Amino acid sequence: MCGIVGYVGTEAPQGIILEGLKKLEYRGYDSAGIAVVDNGELKVRKHVGAIVNLERMIGDEKLGGHVGIGHTRWATHGAPSDINSHPHLSADGKVALVHNGLVENYTEIKQRLLEEGFSFRSETDSEVAAVLVGKYYAEGLELVEALGRAVSEMEGTFALAAVAYDRPDEFVAFRRNAPLIVGKGRGCNFVASDFSALLKYTKDVHLLENDDLVLLRPDSVTIWDKDRKKVTRETLHISWDVNAAEKGDYEHFMLKEIYEQPQGIMETLRRNLTDDGRVDIYDMKLTPEHFAQFNKVCIVACGTAYHAGLVGRYILEKIVKLPVEVDIASEFRYRDPFVDEKTLFIAISQSGETADTLEALREAKKKGAYVLSIVNVVGSTVARESDDVFYTWAGPEIAVASTKAYTTQLLCLYLLALYFADLRGTIDADHYREMVDALVAVPKQMEEVLEMRPAIEKLAKKLYDRDQVFFIGRGIDSSVAYEGSLKLKEISYINSFAIAAGELKHGTIALMEPKTIVIALATQDRLFDKMVSNIQEVKARNAQIISIAKEGNTKIEEHSDVTFYIPQCIDEVTPLLSVIPLQLYAYYVAKEKHCEIDRPRNLAKSVTVE
Ligand code: AGP
Repeated sequence: MCGIVGYVGTEAPQGIILEGLKKLEYRGYDSAGIAVVDNGELKVRKHVGAIVNLERMIGDEKLGGHVGIGHTRWATHGAPSDINSHPHLSADGKVALVHNGLVENYTEIKQRLLEEGFSFRSETDSEVAAVLVGKYYAEGLELVEALGRAVSEMEGTFALAAVAYDRPDEFVAFRRNAPLIVGKGRGCNFVASDFSALLKYTKDVHLLENDDLVLLRPDSVTIWDKDRKKVTRETLHISWDVNAAEKGDYEHFMLKEIYEQPQGIMETLRRNLTDDGRVDIYDMKLTPEHFAQFNKVCIVACGTAYHAGLVGRYILEKIVKLPVEVDIASEFRYRDPFVDEKTLFIAISQSGETADTLEALREAKKKGAYVLSIVNVVGSTVARESDDVFYTWAGPEIAVASTKAYTTQLLCLYLLALYFADLRGTIDADHYREMVDALVAVPKQMEEVLEMRPAIEKLAKKLYDRDQVFFIGRGIDSSVAYEGSLKLKEISYINSFAIAAGELKHGTIALMEPKTIVIALATQDRLFDKMVSNIQEVKARNAQIISIAKEGNTKIEEHSDVTFYIPQCIDEVTPLLSVIPLQLYAYYVAKEKHCEIDRPRNLAKSVTVE
């Protein structure tokens, strides 16, 4: 997934676009580029690598002009390189274009253009789009018409923006299944892949629909819909503050976001819990009558969001007493799932733009399911294509490794479970109250767990170079083990893995060696003794044990090299606390290894390609 910024207005676009791209760098950082129209000239500067390389290349040069577009890339077609960087140019060099997504039929279009005598410099699908738009522009179409004509021949998912050398006060844009919003400023207008690039200039945005074509000038934004009828789109005022998308005093966004978890939980509770402790889900339209028709729940997501779904299954099955399936989005579609109008389909996504999750929810909708999404980005595609939405209020999550979004996703699943259990009468008043009280206590308990940071940092300094790390747990702890392993993998590049503790003896324990680290989650009271036995099994093979247990369960220390205790709480809510030591451990191991923590190699914050 890539980041796009476009600007037209009274100021020079260079600084605005580069600042905006920096806010989008988490979406991809293989290369970056900018194109501005200055005095009848199209000035394009682009460079492989992070935006800082582009800035070094531009140096003190002032590119001038009043309109420009920019791009930060996560490579799909063509390796990261200068030539594959965006913006791409038309054959005559008169149009520049930036692209996020995949043009699935680019080879056919490229072949046709080659036969018409056009040539190409790069390996990318994006350059094909640039040449196609430029071809129609050269044939005399208006720039917006040239873009509209080109996209009518293109298939796939793409957000595009383009400028032309002789259009000093306009640029055009288009979106299909890839995020692009319009920012409305005073005497200026913008497009961007997400709000964070615009917060400094405007909080008023238009959410574009699929196949919207847009012409932007300093004092006007004209939008045509998929039938090329002029339309107006909903204006949203973004509540995020500018600092929310800044690192502040933290060295990395990831650490900042780990520490913002208590606040995310508090904000999400505040919006969805009445003063007398009743769950009242702020955004959700689902009615009790509607809910009564469901006979199963299907949770679908990717990565960390999927791990949240695994926890959700335990809670929903336990207190709502409905069968719950949890599926990886990229698998869901291809297993011909049994989903119908009696299915409540829950899509979980921090970004709300993950292609796999989007395609899965579209499949579920086609089959008649009621789609409720748990999303962190207001107005994102997943939110807009769902029948219903339950927003997490974690604030912008910039680090590629998801932390605060995960814990607020868990909270939403707990609140949904309580709401549904109450509707179905499957939870008594005492247990309901006990769960609500436990959730209300979580922000303060998270603060207590965060005080472990120095001890975890110290441990990470000792163990950072150990390349065999297992995460084990039973029941709900096994779901958290998967999340802990993913954190360590994606930011420290250690090939860790997670396994249900009871499964170890069925083969995997053969891998155990004296230097193997085993991070054992043992927070479930009713599974504690079984977990202690599993820990003894691996201890007997001289593995090094790091245990996570509830305060007071000191028996575990006899079999562990290091033990971290989370505050006493009911079994159901331990994931909200036990995940924090795992997040911190991954962070400090990656730090000790001098990894690019906020922008790990090969990754992007939201994967908008399948
Ligand atoms: C999590 O740390 C990863 N960055 C990744 O697994 C992520 O959770 C996944 O791509 C899903 O993203 P989403 O929540 O935005 O849909």
